[in-house]
Amino acid sequence: MTLETEIAARRTFGIISHPDAGKTTLTEKLLLFGGAIQVAGAVKAKRDTRPVTSDFMEIERQRGISVATSVMGFYYNQIKINLLDTPGHQDFCEDTFRTLTAVDSALMVIDASKGVESQTLKLIDVCRMRHTPVMTFINKMDRECRDPIELLDEIEAKLSIKVCPMSWPISMGKTFKGVYSFYEKQLILFKPHHKQDASSIVKITHLSDPRLDALLGLDANPLREQIELVSGVYPSFDQEAYLKGEVSPVFFGSALNNFGVRELLDCFIQIAPPPQGRPTHIRTVQPSEPKFTGFVFKIHANIDPKHRNRIAFIRVCSGIFKRNEWLTHVRLGKKFRFSNPTAFMAQDKSIIDDAYPGDIVGVHDTGNFKIGDALTEGELLIFKGIPHFSPEIFRIVINLNPLKTKQLHKGIHQLCEEGVAQLFTRGTDSRLMIGTVGALQFEVIQYRLENEYGASCRFEPLNFVKACWISSDDSLDLDRFIRERSGQIAYDLHQLPVYLAETKWSLEREMRENPDIVFSVTSDTPSD
Ligand code: G4P
Repeated sequence: MTLETEIAARRTFGIISHPDAGKTTLTEKLLLFGGAIQVAGAVKAKRDTRPVTSDFMEIERQRGISVATSVMGFYYNQIKINLLDTPGHQDFCEDTFRTLTAVDSALMVIDASKGVESQTLKLIDVCRMRHTPVMTFINKMDRECRDPIELLDEIEAKLSIKVCPMSWPISMGKTFKGVYSFYEKQLILFKPHHKQDASSIVKITHLSDPRLDALLGLDANPLREQIELVSGVYPSFDQEAYLKGEVSPVFFGSALNNFGVRELLDCFIQIAPPPQGRPTHIRTVQPSEPKFTGFVFKIHANIDPKHRNRIAFIRVCSGIFKRNEWLTHVRLGKKFRFSNPTAFMAQDKSIIDDAYPGDIVGVHDTGNFKIGDALTEGELLIFKGIPHFSPEIFRIVINLNPLKTKQLHKGIHQLCEEGVAQLFTRGTDSRLMIGTVGALQFEVIQYRLENEYGASCRFEPLNFVKACWISSDDSLDLDRFIRERSGQIAYDLHQLPVYLAETKWSLEREMRENPDIVFSVTSDTPSD
């Protein structure tokens, strides 16, 4: 196969959803279709099989299993699908944000009884920022749920994305009968507790077909009316608008019952984009370029503290990644080669000789990588669009064991490079501050510092709610601002200045009063 055909045969995507919407169940069904697993229950560690003493223990336990599920590759109809896992816990949503920088499209799962939930809102913002195409699966139609039109309206209103139903549900809950697929022009019948088979699918090209009445009885006419209504309200599927991230094709189904999943997957491999170009500070790198380029989007620490090495996950952007070939680590200006690069197929890891654009390669790292780092065959590229997002909780680090200061600094730096939290240095006194999106990370940091680095610390709260990266074309004006607001200035891991806001209103005031300064709640990977 040529590089072009390898690229055309790949789809790399991530699932975004609010916890409990059914992401794990759907993932499992997708893997079953791909033949990557044989039995249901293989992906999900049963929640109640081990006593969980706290949320934090749960996080550690998930960290243990999440290496296995970080990337799940499988084949479906000769297409290699790379499904990148996204952590479910909201305190770890920054991990999810970053994983989304390595995908070419996303699948949004929505619980039909709950509609759009908070976590989905945040995640879709990231997709919108990057114009990522999004498909939607409205799950749990076998339960009593909300009116489908109301759900679609809510998606459009809350997520600012147009929708295009690809199928339409026939009733719901106990009386759920199945869906009519606009896309495939067929009726797919739902039989509770029955496997969906060939007899569940009936080709219906015209809604006047009397078989509809025979199959659906009293539900036939309401379906006809609804479809007429829906066809008038929503535009027909527009591939280009989907690829631009403007329209989301919507499917209805039930992951638990494996209903609607095959249709989703069949459509996904048809319409979802193959590996796309990736912007760098000088040009967009196209996947078909012969020379290898890739970037690190995730670093996973070994759960065993005796083995400090980590796995860096690299998304192949162009060319072919080859085992044992020398590659340039652009930020360090050093050459590296990897003798045991791993690929991830379902839950199996295996050493690979080569990988293609869209693939994810795991390499052992002894502390050389940071998120966003580029590896190339020699060209000095820096990939853009791998942002840090403003934390919302800030605390100052108090060292409890001065004899272990070095270990504390090393541990905090490494954990922050791994992406557990963001590290800032206060401008006035160079003290270390940690910023996170959720409170749980502080527990994780304390625990891991003690267990992996032998250092101990506590945290004192700081009265800030947002960190904004500040920049200006007028360097004198920026210097003035930094001088005048010195108590609220800190520097990130890349030494970029950050303004710490105490309230939303004070931030708005500063923005109004300092029009030449750009305040940004995200920072792109800087070119250091
Ligand atoms: P998540 O990864 O998004 O957090 O969700 P997960 O798949 O774990 O699903 C959350 C709960 O919703 C699970 O029930 C799961 O069985 C259920 N579920 C998923 N899809 C459907 C569906 O189509 N219909 C119905 N009725 N339920 C669905 P649980 O009781 O929390 O866990 P479990 O004991 O079943 O594993």
